[in-house]
Amino acid sequence: MEGRIETGDVMIRMENLWKVYKTGTISVVALREVSFSVKKGEFVSVMGPSGSGKSTLMNIIGCLDRMTKGRYILNGIDVSGLSDYELSKIRNERIGFVFQTFNLLPRMSALKNVELPMIYAGVNAKQRHERAIEALRKVDLLERKDHKPNELSGGQRQRVAIARALVNNPDILLADEPTGNLDSKSGEEIMAIFQALNREGVTIVLVTHEPDIAMHTDRIVTFRDGMVIKDEKVENRLDAKEVLEKLVEQNLIYQENTM
Ligand SMILES: Nc1ncnc2c1ncn2[C@@H]1O[C@H](COP(=O)(O)OP(=O)(O)OP(=O)(O)O)[C@@H](O)[C@H]1O
Ligand SMILES: [Mg+2]
Repeated sequence: MEGRIETGDVMIRMENLWKVYKTGTISVVALREVSFSVKKGEFVSVMGPSGSGKSTLMNIIGCLDRMTKGRYILNGIDVSGLSDYELSKIRNERIGFVFQTFNLLPRMSALKNVELPMIYAGVNAKQRHERAIEALRKVDLLERKDHKPNELSGGQRQRVAIARALVNNPDILLADEPTGNLDSKSGEEIMAIFQALNREGVTIVLVTHEPDIAMHTDRIVTFRDGMVIKDEKVENRLDAKEVLEKLVEQNLIYQENTM
């Protein structure tokens, strides 16, 4: 992976990027001429109607899929020139994914689910265990480590998925509607975890349909028909911890022991 490009404090840079899906005789343009950058340590949300290209964008950022045309530079590396093997290496070592549907393995405990990406990364058993424990502590779920996904609430499942995304210490966290299936308190708890990670320096890109969730980030980029139509800074970023405290104060929710 020689030939680094000097991009300064930019983590993600896309230049005139296109993605066209070809299915049989039909072509769908999912991204058209997208130019989009995210700085190191930035927390960006991506919004836009269904079908506007948000997940397509995330898949390309996360090196899960390739663009059709254009240029994508990830932390100084021109991704278009990389082999599948190199892409999977970047994906495993630098990027954590969180999805709306959690994508946990149902027969495995929370702990084993969190250990999984480290098996692919070749981490030994002792370290796997220690790092998984640490990640579960970070998301405040240590006491549920032996529970299987169906023995956890939606919010707790998502916290397991976040712990799993963190164990390889990624530079970037990509979250595609991580609060889409959650009630507002659980969603707020997820945002509190993301904000804490972001304060530690993790760059985060989050797709959401909910304007309230987007208000927890630094910047909102809006897509429509595969194009960026708006890119705005959030003036007073909401603090998830404060929102949670307010919810409790107003007695809209009862503080319960969720452990
Ligand atoms: N694998 C695929 N093959 C063919 N077309 C696809 C594929 N994935 C997505 N598309 C098409 O690309 C366009 C963008 O889809 P994408 O999933 O990126 O939208 P989205 O903004 O994430 O929508 P949603 O909010 O519903 O998740 C859509 O028209 C979709 O039908
Ligand atoms: Mg989507």
